[in-house]
Amino acid sequence: MARTPLMAGNWKMNLDHLEANQLVQKLAWTLKDMKHDYGQVEVVVLPPFTDLRTVQTVVDADKLEIGYGAQDLSAQDSGAYTGEISASMLKALGATYVAIGHSERREYHNESDELVNAKTKKAIAAGITPIVCVGEGLDIRKAGDQVSYTLAQVEGALKDIAAENVANLVIAYEPVWAIGTGEVATPADAQEVCGAIREKIAELYDQETADSTRILYGGSVKSDNVAEIMAEKDVDGALVGGASLKADEFAKIARYNG
Ligand code: G3P
Repeated sequence: MARTPLMAGNWKMNLDHLEANQLVQKLAWTLKDMKHDYGQVEVVVLPPFTDLRTVQTVVDADKLEIGYGAQDLSAQDSGAYTGEISASMLKALGATYVAIGHSERREYHNESDELVNAKTKKAIAAGITPIVCVGEGLDIRKAGDQVSYTLAQVEGALKDIAAENVANLVIAYEPVWAIGTGEVATPADAQEVCGAIREKIAELYDQETADSTRILYGGSVKSDNVAEIMAEKDVDGALVGGASLKADEFAKIARYNG
């Protein structure tokens, strides 16, 4: 089963709409100069909500092949939910991906597996591809419980979601101890959990579904470590934070296979 690699840049709470415009344009020019084939490696940026309209405008105007999406969405459809952004609003802005359950949201906003599941269903219903984030903290890793902990998050996120929707979504394994620390997981660490996630999907659904779901690694990915991680059989791409804020660096990550 050929899975198209996906390199997604999570900008987190960085860049205003003017800076976003510049970064997307520079990323596009850099990848064009590299003769990047988006059919070989998909490139997506996840800007803050305030930048989405700008990114949509530059992508549409310049007919860029860079995909874009959001870093979160509401579990509600519309109404009295101050500060929240709905799936339909993201769809109207041309978003094709949305990160859900990032560890920073689970930690700072107490997002539960149940809420992650509800948000995942909203994204699917709107035709936006979920990037469901899972991963353990350092305490869990030190206890050697990273696989069981992460698989419990996967099960919670996928509850009552049909196989054809799981086949088309993305799961990002992001060990919390590797996020923003420079402590990138070893390829073996990444493969251990990404492989276990694929096995769990095969167990919950079937092998065909498991072979279709894309599983990313995230946590201190840089251009000098991405290739060895991508060489692992169950890693289908990366969810990149800090390095995605620099066009040249993120372009090199997208070009991991030279
Ligand atoms: O969502 C990706 C992010 O959590 C990884 O951050 O800065 O370690 O690449 P970073």
